[in-house]
Amino acid sequence: MRFGHFDDARREYVITTPKTPYPWINYLGSEQFFGLVSHQGGGYCFYRDARLRRLTRYRYNNVPTDSGGRYFYINEGGDTWTPTFMPMKKELSFFECRHGLGYTQITGTRNGLRAEVLYFVPIGQTAEVHQVTLKNEGSTPKRFKLFSFVEFCLWNAHDDATNFQRNFSTGEVEVVGSTIYHKTEYRERRDHFAFYHVNAQVSGFDTDRESFIGLYNGFGDPDVPSAGESKNTVASGWSPIASHGLDVTLAPGEEKKFVFLLGYVENPRAEKWEKPGIINKTRAEQLIAAFSSSEQVTAALGKLREHWEGLLSNYAVESGDEKLNRMVNIWNPYQCMVTFNMSRSASYFESGIGRGMGFRDSNQDLLGFVHLVPERARERIIDIASTQFADGSAYHQYQPLTKRGNNDVGSGFNDDPLWLILGVSAYIKETGDYGILDEQVPFDNDPNNAATLLEHLKRSFDHVGHNLGPHGLPLIGRADWNDCLNLNCFSETPDESFQTTGNRTGRTAESVFIAGMFVHIGPDYAKICEYKGQSAEATRARAEVAKMERAVLEHGWDGEWFLRAYDFFGNKIGSKDCPEGDSKILIEPQGYCVMAGIGVATGEAKLALDSVKERLDTRYGIVLNNPPYRDYHVELGEISSYPPGYKENAGIFCHNNPWVMIAETVIGRGERAFEYYKKIAPAYLEDISEIHRTEPYVYSQMIAGKDAPRHGEAKNSWLTGTGSWNFVAISQYMLGVRPEWDGLCVKPCIGKEVPEFTVTRKCRGATYRIHVKSTGGTGQVKLVVDGTPIEGVIVPFAKPGSTVHIECEAS
Ligand code: BGC
Ligand code: NOJ
Repeated sequence: MRFGHFDDARREYVITTPKTPYPWINYLGSEQFFGLVSHQGGGYCFYRDARLRRLTRYRYNNVPTDSGGRYFYINEGGDTWTPTFMPMKKELSFFECRHGLGYTQITGTRNGLRAEVLYFVPIGQTAEVHQVTLKNEGSTPKRFKLFSFVEFCLWNAHDDATNFQRNFSTGEVEVVGSTIYHKTEYRERRDHFAFYHVNAQVSGFDTDRESFIGLYNGFGDPDVPSAGESKNTVASGWSPIASHGLDVTLAPGEEKKFVFLLGYVENPRAEKWEKPGIINKTRAEQLIAAFSSSEQVTAALGKLREHWEGLLSNYAVESGDEKLNRMVNIWNPYQCMVTFNMSRSASYFESGIGRGMGFRDSNQDLLGFVHLVPERARERIIDIASTQFADGSAYHQYQPLTKRGNNDVGSGFNDDPLWLILGVSAYIKETGDYGILDEQVPFDNDPNNAATLLEHLKRSFDHVGHNLGPHGLPLIGRADWNDCLNLNCFSETPDESFQTTGNRTGRTAESVFIAGMFVHIGPDYAKICEYKGQSAEATRARAEVAKMERAVLEHGWDGEWFLRAYDFFGNKIGSKDCPEGDSKILIEPQGYCVMAGIGVATGEAKLALDSVKERLDTRYGIVLNNPPYRDYHVELGEISSYPPGYKENAGIFCHNNPWVMIAETVIGRGERAFEYYKKIAPAYLEDISEIHRTEPYVYSQMIAGKDAPRHGEAKNSWLTGTGSWNFVAISQYMLGVRPEWDGLCVKPCIGKEVPEFTVTRKCRGATYRIHVKSTGGTGQVKLVVDGTPIEGVIVPFAKPGSTVHIECEAS
């Protein structure tokens, strides 16, 4: 069942009923100011850091689920309603939510009054525009009240949700004309404040939540809108809000627009005050002046559209499959932008207070993002590398505001360092900017301890190479990519975090997955060394990689698939020999080792992927492991803590599905790769939205696996490495166009189902038009470049400004 439809021409998903199977959200902003907005106007916004600089309040796991947002209440002759449906839930004769790229427009009509709310963050601004367009569609004049509403968060979202003995006394506001200023803690150490403005004269305002809503009421039956009169309250402590009250009249057919602006301002410390106790509003007034008319809003929205048009033109496919086109051309790159910005911090499943920017996650997010804005990828690489420790290991995350590593979700995940090499390689392949390797980058943010980025990569490589276990395989540390494989944790006590709790320091638990990564990513490190004239180091690196490959085939092969790991006691994980009730096969090394080319020549690769098909594939995607762990295992940790079929215990953990897709292209089975792709790519799931439940335009982290009662039900939409990796799988391996070290690689491997397509790829200033006839999915290709047949699959990089025409026959 569908709950809307794609509008590809406008690059929007159009939701036509408020009652979707779960709140379907969108993101506003892509630089410093960010907002989350649901199809019912729910959500919140923040400046740079969802934990430390939260502007508006949101209560997670609320009842109803999606309560609290930027709301507009209308009171027409005593009939009070909200055009976003929530929170008043009054019947609407028309409802529509259009989620577009960086904006959302929600329309509701009742009693012949059409109210449309447009939400977006203009490029370059630290503010959200909420433009309300009201139209009288009836035949008699209308006179009604409009009330805006936002609830402020007292900045630090964690304290805001916990430290009430303090918070209920700190709230402060100022009201000047049509602008409400939120200045809690501005009197002391904060140099920032927020404001909510409307470009019209108000008939009243409110800033005290209890007065506006009523102590015993909720968002759905608030006092002021129901009574139709603002109370002009000035908050003192408790919960500051901002609400404007407006009198509106509309002749039949008449339309009026109001521009509301929710802004964030920082003042230099010396310029904080206009006079004692009164904030200096100069910067806020400048921001307000930039959005005081709907013409300015239209121009800013136009700029946002153009911005996205430009970004998306860097990779585009035209094929006969409209679902494929909309995933590759619109929604997948859009999600990559969002994951790049948010990492795993703020979504409807990530509270914004738990996790900052992940070391591993952010490096992988680069893979699907780097072709959009390479300069920002560069900056991110430096930020990430600056949190690395001198021994090559890493904090698992850092806070975006301070850019410093923190230990909230631990450290010592031994896969982390390798992802930095992968991220840097993707950046250099895209841009040719080898200069980044010479940048001086600190360790653990200590300016007195810095080295070149190249040296950081060496330490990453060596951190794995110098930490091998008894089988010559990499030690897993706290865990590898699978955060839940906690082989040294041994937690017996409830409430201990598997991610941070006491690690045994034994040097026995080994990861075949990290070995696969080393073989996959190590050659990139060697190539980089070669470019820097360090051929001895390149030779050393290649020798270590070759040794690791031998170790995998000798100690990491189980007969029909790759083993997953050895535990603390040296027992095999993910083996046919594992006892009843334990998993016998796990997905990660199957995909990753084959991506690395291990066993391709000798047959193990094909066997491993056949085992994946036989044991892990389902109608909704490939599960992580099978059978699921039945009982908790203290020597395995969190993986065995989940009920069978969910999350890392046999859920369809989408992030690793593209590894299998890419692996299938490595052994020349493009048809199978595309079959797996269609199982998890959201546009193909639109028709089963009632089962899938999350947004049909973005990937979710997890879909319940075959052992779960709710097989096919997704959770944790938006912030997942699936975004980047599935973009890589489809665009670089199945459609087959990717920048490599020495040129653009063109090697489609998708099969007959997409018989003909054209990819337009911009790279290093040149444009490549690649027309493909695909008669089979073996990965065999013949290329004709500007009329001349070439050998192989690498098209040399062309001069900036030129256009290269490529004809490709893929069989
Ligand atoms: C989840 C993992 C996640 C980890 C992050 C675990 O509870 O299952 O998916 O990576 O927390 O800290
Ligand atoms: C989610 C985390 O963000 C990611 O880093 C991890 O690899 C996966 N979970 C698997 O555990």
